[in-house]
Amino acid sequence: MLSTREMQDEILRLKKENDICILAHAYQSHDILEIADYTGDSYGLSLEAAKATQKTVLMCGVRFMAETVKILSPDKKVLLSNSDAGCPMAEQLDVVLLSALKAQNPDYTVVAYINTTSELKTICDVCVTSSSAVKIVKNIDNDKILFIPDCNLGAWVKEQIPEKQFKFVNGGCPTHLRMTVRDVQKARQEHPNAKLLVHPECLSDVTKEADYIGSTTGIMDYARKSTDTEFIIGTENSILQHLQFECPDKKFYPLSKDCVCHNMKLTTLVDVYNCVKGIGGEEIILDDEVREKALKCINTMLTLG
Ligand code: 13P
Ligand code: SF4
Repeated sequence: MLSTREMQDEILRLKKENDICILAHAYQSHDILEIADYTGDSYGLSLEAAKATQKTVLMCGVRFMAETVKILSPDKKVLLSNSDAGCPMAEQLDVVLLSALKAQNPDYTVVAYINTTSELKTICDVCVTSSSAVKIVKNIDNDKILFIPDCNLGAWVKEQIPEKQFKFVNGGCPTHLRMTVRDVQKARQEHPNAKLLVHPECLSDVTKEADYIGSTTGIMDYARKSTDTEFIIGTENSILQHLQFECPDKKFYPLSKDCVCHNMKLTTLVDVYNCVKGIGGEEIILDDEVREKALKCINTMLTLG
């Protein structure tokens, strides 16, 4: 049996030998982040995916992230580390429902959170991520925005761009929705000197209480650079562990112990090990037409962002 350290060393050796780039979303566990070539938020990973020079890209995250890599790099072999890892939010809206919404709102630009399937992206105008949404929506040459599927992220964007008209559909992240304003009151009482840092996927009752709202990378940067020493973290709880390693002199508390994304947690270091050995993961295969149409939506994001 290999120890964690031995397995990490083997992964590092095999990924070099087999020309594999490992991308890991910030919600992955710390032992995976340590062996990744790039870690970050959804936007950062999309940029790295477009730049990667290796023949194979292994995405440690959820399915829509691996699909984004394949859309941007059709000639590369793209692997999803654990084929069961999906994002429930990405499945909340399908092509039939969105087509009906588009027909009812023909003069609206359809802005899709990147947490959507490739099929859905084929009928959207532009993708956004939590760190790029405000900038991109501001840059869209239309004042009417149909924002799908995350109403909470959408409401946060709308607040910052009051001059535009927004329409939303009922959707959101089941993980971030677990955090309530009561959690905020309790955490503030227990840690009166801590700054509250939250993700825009949280309910607006929660975000309006925050000292900082931003993507996973945004939250981590804020905590790293801040002169404050205590933080309540309102996003997936793996971020706390990464921050504790990086800033051992600072204190981090979860806004809720329940903010765990079970899909992100499916991938283990052993999955990664099996992928670099060539016996694990799922190769992402996309239909050419779907890929080309979805690419427009992602390229518009990269241009406007
Ligand atoms: P970011 O990485 O863009 O902050 O998004 C978080 C998320 O929920 C990804 O699924
Ligand atoms: Fe999807 Fe939410 Fe998990 Fe992100 S945290 S992958 S949005 S369920």
